[in-house]
Amino acid sequence: MTNGKQRPLGVHSLDHFTLAVPDLDAAEKFFRAFGLDVERGAARLYLRCFGSEHVWADIIREQRKKLKSVRFGIFPEDEKAFKERLGPVAADRPIRALGTSMWIKAPDGLCVEVAVSGKTSPDEKVECGLPPLYSHARGTGPRSAMGVIRPRRLAHLALFSKSVPEAISFYQEYLGLRLSDKSGDDVAFMHGPHGSEHHMVALARSGGPGLHHSSWEVRSIAEVGQGAMQMEEAGYPSGWGVGRHVLGSNYFYYARDPWGSYAEFSADMDFIAAGAGWEALDSPPEDSFYQWGPRPPEDFGTNYELA
Ligand SMILES: [Fe+2]
Repeated sequence: MTNGKQRPLGVHSLDHFTLAVPDLDAAEKFFRAFGLDVERGAARLYLRCFGSEHVWADIIREQRKKLKSVRFGIFPEDEKAFKERLGPVAADRPIRALGTSMWIKAPDGLCVEVAVSGKTSPDEKVECGLPPLYSHARGTGPRSAMGVIRPRRLAHLALFSKSVPEAISFYQEYLGLRLSDKSGDDVAFMHGPHGSEHHMVALARSGGPGLHHSSWEVRSIAEVGQGAMQMEEAGYPSGWGVGRHVLGSNYFYYARDPWGSYAEFSADMDFIAAGAGWEALDSPPEDSFYQWGPRPPEDFGTNYELA
């Protein structure tokens, strides 16, 4: 489906998520350790990346951890067409300074918001080579001179879903996302049609909806490794990595949060340009998950949001 300019109608960016957790103090400590700029509001936390005003996530307090909503950004010129597309199924709800957003429920109940926003997904492949940090003669420097790793933006979310094929259809039909790759009906990865990384949404089969991980962009595999150490030294030794994914190609380290989900340091993911031809693979599990790295924790795929 296209708008009047024969441009595909689709969201351009992953913009925000709201996550409920039982303990805001614990969340503040975790996300600060992860290198995010955490603002404490009256009854919630606002997560930003240092040097930017963009609020990537609201963390609110409820008895159980639960992903409450996910927001995607659209171009202003697409607002009318999106209203027509979502109108029969969306319920308008006012939301802070954003004016009127469009809300729609994913098949398994996740609240999805579509709103006009600036494009935050990259327009080209993010360069991940680091310039020499110390000198051309010495590739590295003293450990004591290492800085804090601070992610630059929210890169993607990995969502549990009761039915991955149904979720793929939903995100294709209503949001205009496209399938990047999948592995049977177990996992799938979706990108935006206006230039985005290999995935702004990953889908994983589970008994119901939930957040598996939020993923945050860092500059290099060096920063992925340093981020892993940063989390261990801050009291978060559990996680998975460092390794490299097959689908998406990114280097990763997953830090386990206090509720059994993860925040991922991610670098060097594949990029899919607007209008680029992209053939989605359907890869067997052993060739879709990770190319190299340690074995994942046994409960890595557990959805702790299920009752
Ligand atoms: Fe990820």
